[in-house]
Amino acid sequence: MIYLNGEFLPIEEARIPVLDRGFIFGDGVYELIPVYSRRPFRIEEHLARLQHSLDGIRLPNPHTPGEWRELIDTLIAQQSFDDQSVYLHITRGVAKRDHAFPPGITPTVMMMANPLVTPTPEQIENGVAAVTAVDNRWLRCDIKAISLLPNVLLRQLAVDAGAAETILLRGGFMTEGAASNIFVIKDEIIFAPPKNNLMLPGITYDVVVELANQNNVDVRIGAVPERLLRHADEIWQTSSTREVLAITTLDGAPVGDGRPGLLGQRMLEWYQAFKTAVMRADYT
Ligand code: PDD
Repeated sequence: MIYLNGEFLPIEEARIPVLDRGFIFGDGVYELIPVYSRRPFRIEEHLARLQHSLDGIRLPNPHTPGEWRELIDTLIAQQSFDDQSVYLHITRGVAKRDHAFPPGITPTVMMMANPLVTPTPEQIENGVAAVTAVDNRWLRCDIKAISLLPNVLLRQLAVDAGAAETILLRGGFMTEGAASNIFVIKDEIIFAPPKNNLMLPGITYDVVVELANQNNVDVRIGAVPERLLRHADEIWQTSSTREVLAITTLDGAPVGDGRPGLLGQRMLEWYQAFKTAVMRADYT
């Protein structure tokens, strides 16, 4: 079952008009919330980021946080599997095609849940490959916009090269991955770009920074030059679905010794322990 504009219904029966501005212009935003054992992970932070995205495109939020939580809980309860990725999608609504905002239209709200697919044991054991490309996206990458054509094209470069992710470079500095955030590790120090307009403020990114602080690992937030990326001891990719995954080759060259590093393995353990603690905690 999926949710569309106030109704829960089978996905095959869900319909949107062709004049929906999401279809015509990619005029909308989305969120993806991982759900472990039927508990949404960091839901407050995801709903806050959704609000930031909606503000960024000047679209009033169709629901209060309480209403979102209720809808999300109902959607989760309807699925047969426990670990889920819940996808929220809001567009500006349906109107005759014209770029400017049409007055008085109702946003389209869609939500669906899929089984959560995290890295395989083989990927965790060996890490994955990444390629680099010029970040040719717009200057509001902090908005989780549904218009993802640049990300789609950039991610496909990785797939074409037999790699898992494309790491993006803008003006000599690393921004993020096509669908993930990137951390660079050198001499036991974690380097990460700042959360500004050039990257999506990842929820997993925040968790990784918090876990590093709690475990007394040095984190430096600041512009990450390309040469640091190319001489890294370790590179990590983080996202709600990739969790914390080692990148062990970059543009065909080994990262460090070409194996997942020790710090990355510890970070993944801390991350899994944190998830478990959250899942067991009371959820209200
Ligand atoms: N993508 N940067 C980009 C461009 C992303 O698309 C994502 C997530 C992230 C990581 O954010 P988070 O840690 O909150 O998942 C960073 C999701 C998974 C997607 O589009 O499917």
